[in-house]
Amino acid sequence: MITTEGGGVTRRALLVGVGVAGGAGAMYAAMGALGLAPDRQQKDYAPPQRSDFALRGRGAAKVVILGAGVAGLAAAYELGKAGYDCTVLEARDRAGGRSLTLRGGDRLTELSGETQEARFGDGVYFNAGPARIAQWMVTLDYCRELGVPIELFVNDNPSAYVYNAGMKAPVRARTARADTYGYISELLAKATNDGALDKRLTSGDKELLLDFLSDFGDIGERFAYSGSERRGFQANPGADAPVLLGPPPAVSEVLGYGLGRSVAFPLSFEQAMPMFQPVGGMDAIARKLADAVGRDRIQTSVEVKKITNVPGGVEITHSGGSTTADYCVAALPPHVLARIPGNLGAQVTGALRTPQPVSAGKIGLEYGRRWWETDDRIYGGITETDMDISHIWYPSYGFHGPRGLVVGYYNLGSDADAYARLKHAERQSRAIDRGMRIHGGKYRAELLSSVSIAWRNQPHIEGAWVAWPSYESGFRLLQGPAGRVYFAGDWLTHLIAWQAGALESARKVVTQLHERVLKEG
Ligand code: ALA
Repeated sequence: MITTEGGGVTRRALLVGVGVAGGAGAMYAAMGALGLAPDRQQKDYAPPQRSDFALRGRGAAKVVILGAGVAGLAAAYELGKAGYDCTVLEARDRAGGRSLTLRGGDRLTELSGETQEARFGDGVYFNAGPARIAQWMVTLDYCRELGVPIELFVNDNPSAYVYNAGMKAPVRARTARADTYGYISELLAKATNDGALDKRLTSGDKELLLDFLSDFGDIGERFAYSGSERRGFQANPGADAPVLLGPPPAVSEVLGYGLGRSVAFPLSFEQAMPMFQPVGGMDAIARKLADAVGRDRIQTSVEVKKITNVPGGVEITHSGGSTTADYCVAALPPHVLARIPGNLGAQVTGALRTPQPVSAGKIGLEYGRRWWETDDRIYGGITETDMDISHIWYPSYGFHGPRGLVVGYYNLGSDADAYARLKHAERQSRAIDRGMRIHGGKYRAELLSSVSIAWRNQPHIEGAWVAWPSYESGFRLLQGPAGRVYFAGDWLTHLIAWQAGALESARKVVTQLHERVLKEG
């Protein structure tokens, strides 16, 4: 609400009122209208959306931001809205950090020195880093505010397969689920009927449980699972009657699918459908952020050598010289930051060393025919396997197009490390060998090109994300500043490995820094 004094709206009240209701963007526009803000900001003003937040007042301090990943870019973007003079230093030759989308012509170099060049055709892209966004994440608010169009990301598809090394052949997830739910329901219903749960359940509870199991497992009134149309068909219903798949395999074979992991996955808060992706590649978010910050404010191929708190400011020594500012936001991975000399102090350096980098790898396999759609009738989604590829992802874009890209592995930990040790050609041949066990000869025969990434081997990043042993003192310490140096990144949130974490962290740091500037004047 705008308050009035003596019947008129005061200038201060107007600014505070707009700030509360509309956030920093509206505040800044109002300042421009009142002649308090430079023209450039006024011209750039866009109506604030939900991703904006209520910063009051105006800060004119100079801030140097280390790292042009999503956290660094978001910090520069939000600080810029509130009037700060930001410079972003990025060691890699492009902004975006781990939000990396590879297209035909892009080159990717690993720490080993091996360089791959993507040869993908027009319209084909590979989200080598983040690839999915949950509907509750602030990332979607930034997509809305920045004008990044989004589309559905298919994170769960019963038509995809389940295949473990011990199985004779891959099984459709729908079939594996129907059989697993059916047998589990049968076992629990029989145990209930036999009185095994009498100490825990009233007879009314038992009736309700049996009703539930009857539906959940499609086990009928005799509580015996003998298959179900949920398994799918040999011939689908159409003009002719469907042909059933036949009876389910024995219960021990079905339990051997080990379906718990893949069934639980899309039930989690972070991975539940519907999920989303930017149209044309995940890097659209980082690109739009970089445009909004101003490309002239982002210096790429500049490596930070030293971070020093000096009286009244910070001094950053880097490969291009040195930059001084009133404040610094260090948005680099903690294990990289920990190695940079300076005067942050032993406690801060110790805390930065605490979270451990996690390995993850992916390979993008480009095909000249979308056989997973035409032959397998799979439109997006994920095949799950206990082989070292862990997952095969089918694309959620370009449906019915001339070509497409399958993610042939997305693995973590020791599986990712094993692929990371290989050259690209060996990674490809290993991934193809595994994939052929599910998809047969076309998996090799129809491959056009591929690119793989091992995140531990990416210069200046050196990890997919990090894991804290616990969210204890080190985590809390780094959520506050070390002198005039603030820290930002997904690694300082409870949303590690999500762009939403980077954005939430940036917003928290911008708020802390801005409150300090207003207080200290
Ligand atoms: N956010 C990462 C994913 O969805 C871990 O795979």
